[in-house]
Amino acid sequence: MLEDVSMNLADLNKVALAMVTPGKGILAADESSGTIKKRFDAINVESTEESRRDYREMLFSAQEALSKYISGVILYDETIWQKAKDGTALITLIEEAGAIPGIKVDEGTQALSACPGELVTVGLDKLAERLKKYHDRGARFAKWRAVIDIGAHLPSMTAIHVNAHALARYAALCQAAQLVPIVEPEVLMDGDHDIDRCYDVTQRVLNKTFKELRNQRVALEGMILKPNMVVPGKKCPKQVSVEEVAEKTVRLLKECVPAAVPGIAFLSGGQSDEDATAHLDAMNRLGALPWRLTFSYGRALQAAPQKAWSGKVENVAAGHRAFSHRARMNGLASSGQWETGLEKMVA
Ligand code: 13P
Repeated sequence: MLEDVSMNLADLNKVALAMVTPGKGILAADESSGTIKKRFDAINVESTEESRRDYREMLFSAQEALSKYISGVILYDETIWQKAKDGTALITLIEEAGAIPGIKVDEGTQALSACPGELVTVGLDKLAERLKKYHDRGARFAKWRAVIDIGAHLPSMTAIHVNAHALARYAALCQAAQLVPIVEPEVLMDGDHDIDRCYDVTQRVLNKTFKELRNQRVALEGMILKPNMVVPGKKCPKQVSVEEVAEKTVRLLKECVPAAVPGIAFLSGGQSDEDATAHLDAMNRLGALPWRLTFSYGRALQAAPQKAWSGKVENVAAGHRAFSHRARMNGLASSGQWETGLEKMVA
């Protein structure tokens, strides 16, 4: 086999394993300016470059929580270049806590032509140049999110195919730039579909994604998968137990995800904070899994600290407490040691 001299797989594998260190997981703080504005609207905070900086500085200065429970932080382009109030680069705060900085590199979604209601994630143009800049700045992993919606006649095979193709193209470019790709094919939990429909669609999506990854020669040892869990749609009248979500999600992942993948870090996707924690914990209690299972949560880690902070400097300590609590709960869940009673204890 020809050796790819442009990439060091042993180093990629080392970073990937560090991203899924037992007891730790990933903080997804990579909301685009549009998404963070929606989150700030909910707490009556105006979204400006400064308020976004202040908020993320609040999160990243929770140094104890970061160092104990967070393996890596996914940043948005604006944030990776920003400095804290005292002039320290925000990326330095992450590194000082021993966490690995990462960067979201997709450029959002566009309508997919000829597929009404479906989206394709874009951002491959000039991606190689952008990856190099991010690596020079200190990023060691990247993220690209594909979005698949479930509807009466959705998703189409076309949407699954083009999104899987783009994910694999992105992943190959990341590895060539010595960045570990987080491959995120998200099947949305909006809608009224039941858990078995989520299972079937996620199965098609994961199978297609791994086929494309192999076609494009992505080294599985040097990537992390970020999937949705197998859950019923939010509007489905038949909700299910924590055990059923855990059992079906692990069964599906065993069918679709090769053991060469070092780790799987779930998105929270709109689950409540406690559900996201309970589901991860229940999966890790099943034991004997071929890959490490942890979190890469956005909303399920940030909703509580966002509310506690609410844009006020005098609330930074309360924001830290709320963030530390959720980080600790999810850290415990990543090794199957969370208990519901711990939720009531003050962090
Ligand atoms: P959520 O946990 O809020 O789904 O966000 C994770 C993420 O990074 C989505 O791309």
